[in-house]
This record gives sequence, C-alpha cells and structure tokens, in this order.
Amino acid sequence: MISVSNLTKVYKLGSVEVRALVDLSLALEAGGVTCVMGKSGSGKSTLLRQLGLIDRPTSGQIFFDGEDVTRLSDGARARMRLTYLGYIFQEFALLGELTAHENVYLPGMMLGGKTHDHRKRAVELLAMVGLGERIHHKPKELSGGEQQRVAIARALINNPRVLFADEPCANLDTISSEVVMQTLLKLNKELGITIVFVSHDPDDKKYAGRLIYLKDGKQVEEYL
Ligand SMILES: Nc1ncnc2c1ncn2[C@@H]1O[C@H](COP(=O)(O)OP(=O)(O)OP(=O)(O)O)[C@@H](O)[C@H]1O
Ligand SMILES: [Mg+2]
Repeated sequence: MISVSNLTKVYKLGSVEVRALVDLSLALEAGGVTCVMGKSGSGKSTLLRQLGLIDRPTSGQIFFDGEDVTRLSDGARARMRLTYLGYIFQEFALLGELTAHENVYLPGMMLGGKTHDHRKRAVELLAMVGLGERIHHKPKELSGGEQQRVAIARALINNPRVLFADEPCANLDTISSEVVMQTLLKLNKELGITIVFVSHDPDDKKYAGRLIYLKDGKQVEEYL
C-alpha cells in the first residue's frame, strides 16, 4: 500500500549538508504494524515526516496505492493527510486551552460536515481509547498516558487508513506506555488501521510484525 523508492532527504544548513535519508527503498504492508528503530540521528523522524506528508523529500518517490504522492500539490497533500493519515507525536501536541473533546473533534471540522456529528464521534473515540470519563478535562488535567490517548483519538477523527506515531511512548512511564501501545494494536486489529511507529526501545519489537532498522539514513537488515 505504501512504498518508497530511492528516497533521499538532504537538509542544508548554510554550507553544511546532512544526508538524513539516503536512497531508501521499502514497501509497507497494508494492515500491518511496522516499527522503525535505529540510533538517534539515524533518520527515523525524517522518514516518518516524509511518509506522513508533513515534509517533502529531496528526491525519490512515495507511493500510496500506486499513486506518486511526491508529485501532488501542497493542497492535495494536505487533503490526503487530513483524509487518510493520522499522526501522533512524542510530545502529544494537544491544544492546551481546549478540552479533550474539543481537541479531538476540531480536525474533523476541517473537512466540513456537521459539527454535531463530529462532536458525537469524538465522544465515541474518547470512550474507545478508555477516556469516556475524561472528555471535559484539559491536557494539563490529564496524565501523560491519557494525553497521548487523546492524541490517538484526535488522529482517528477522520477515519485514517494509516497512523504514524513518532516515539509515542518516549515521555511515558512503563505502564502508560503499555496502555498506549495496546491502544494502537487494538486499532490495528479491530479497525484494520495500518500502524507505523518509531521506538528507541528494543523491547517494542514485540508489538510489530515488521521491523525497519535505520542506520545513517539507510535500512540495515540486522538489529544491532
Ligand atoms: N530540520 C533539520 N535541519 C537540519 N538537519 C536536520 C533537521 N532535522 C533533522 N536533521 C538531521 O538529520 C538527521 C536525522 O534526524 P532525525 O530527526 O530523522 O533522526 P532520528 O532517528 O529521529 O533521531 P532521534 O532518535 O534522536 O529522534 C540528524 O543528523 C539530524 O541532525
Ligand atoms: Mg526522532
């Protein structure tokens, strides 16, 4: 469903070039759970940002269902991001002045439709991630694990087919991490959402059906 061909991302800082991804080619199975691992600076976040259409590669292609999304206009990419993809960040990225409920239904309104429907769906999603009793709490009134589950509910509001999560548990304790990972696995099993997550923790391999190990912006076979 998602494939990457000769993907290269070079960051230029003045005269210095950082080759964050180098000629990377790979394919991700639809409906699977993939873990991206590698040392700090190996290109994990860069890869996720290209796949999540948050950033554009320097060269190479990304195909969704055979369509080359690197050729799309910014507007078409934004629409695809909103319609098909969900993104979860290490630092949750919730809006602090809004309640959990408001944080979740807001991105739904960006695609139009009835506010009432988005509000209702947001309540259902918050219940699905185990936060039915917390919908009127603001982020600072929630634990880290709860905030991350609000972020997961928010990522689901437009029924994405793929969820990207960049170190979703890096700021969480062991128990909250397990809850967040089990929530992602449940979405994969019950809704068939394709999950691609980044982790530093070798133990997290157990959650994934597929491991992509990056070293210096290239994929290496063995887990080092
Ligand atoms: N906006 C940027 N401008 C310049 N260089 C960047 C930028 N973003 C990342 N880099 C560089 O690209 C390389 C890959 O960075 P990336 O953030 O993808 O690594 P990572 O594997 O996610 O690391 P970490 O585990 O620390 O999150 C690093 O050398 C980094 O310094
Ligand atoms: Mg990173």
